[in-house]
Amino acid sequence: MQELTRRPRRLRTTPVIRDLVAEARLDADMLVQPHFVVPGEGVSEPIASMPGIRHESVDRLVETVTADLDLGIRSVLLFGVPEEDEKSADGRAAYGADAVVPRAVAALKDRLGDRIAVMTDVCLCAYTDHGHCGLVRDGRIDNDATLPHLARMALAHARAGADVVAPSDMMDGRIGAIREALDGEGFVETAIMAYSVKYASAYYGPFRDAAHSAPGFGDRRSYQMDARNRREALVEAELDLEEGADILMVKPALAYLDVVRDLAEAFPVPLAVYNVSGEFSMVKAAAARGWMDERQVVLENLHAFRRAGADILITYHAREALRAGWLG
Ligand code: PBG
Ligand code: ZN
Repeated sequence: MQELTRRPRRLRTTPVIRDLVAEARLDADMLVQPHFVVPGEGVSEPIASMPGIRHESVDRLVETVTADLDLGIRSVLLFGVPEEDEKSADGRAAYGADAVVPRAVAALKDRLGDRIAVMTDVCLCAYTDHGHCGLVRDGRIDNDATLPHLARMALAHARAGADVVAPSDMMDGRIGAIREALDGEGFVETAIMAYSVKYASAYYGPFRDAAHSAPGFGDRRSYQMDARNRREALVEAELDLEEGADILMVKPALAYLDVVRDLAEAFPVPLAVYNVSGEFSMVKAAAARGWMDERQVVLENLHAFRRAGADILITYHAREALRAGWLG
């Protein structure tokens, strides 16, 4: 038998050596914890489809984010969930002065200042009575008519003190419209994290339940990307950068790691992945039945995002991972 000189197993012998040569690393600084903010006071309600994630009013959110900061979570992404009777055809409640997200941003910044980065989702779907991310005209989504509304929403968040606004609507031209509106009001330092490559995905199921944002008719395929497309992701990302995006995002994450790798290699800007609700809930459901080890699966997924080239990991697992000391 031929003598073996090359033995990859040599570097797998002990935990210390494996840690020494590990290529992909995780750090609490790269995690972003999403939150669902609701009106009212003293509200903290579990979301059935997302174990461990809750609907919280601003006061409770501030407590949670403060406790999370002690764990090491320094970035949050906020979603507003308004009352049903606040919804309208054009989603105007999204940018009212007393809208729940601007109030949450202001309260968090008031309490924690620049110890945390506050990011806000910018999209109309939780605020429109039809549940679509844009305005509807003759049964279709009117792209250009939607842009000023998104710009107003982003501006309301910036005024409240958001560090980063994150448009998730997938209208063409939204980054340019938002950048122009922000700059026009002097918010030149408010960054934009673009959900550049957002696929029409069944993995958003639990989120739509949590955000009460399922479309009332049809689906989102006329604006979100088709899961069969890879090259198109580069077009979306390039347009967003040209229009002024600071951070790019791929969403969902697990089924789209080829696209994450493509963007990481093509563009020299920070790249985020959104480990979405369905990806989270699948893991939680299987772990609850004892079918998979939650810690190991979560770490395997998070490392996969890093291996693919992601810099920023938006994940509902963030709190659990840090509280349980999974990152070491
Ligand atoms: C709203 C929005 C969605 C998500 C983030 N922003 C849902 C959708 O587009 O239907 C999904 C987040 C998740 O599933 O965790 N535009
Ligand atoms: Zn939306």
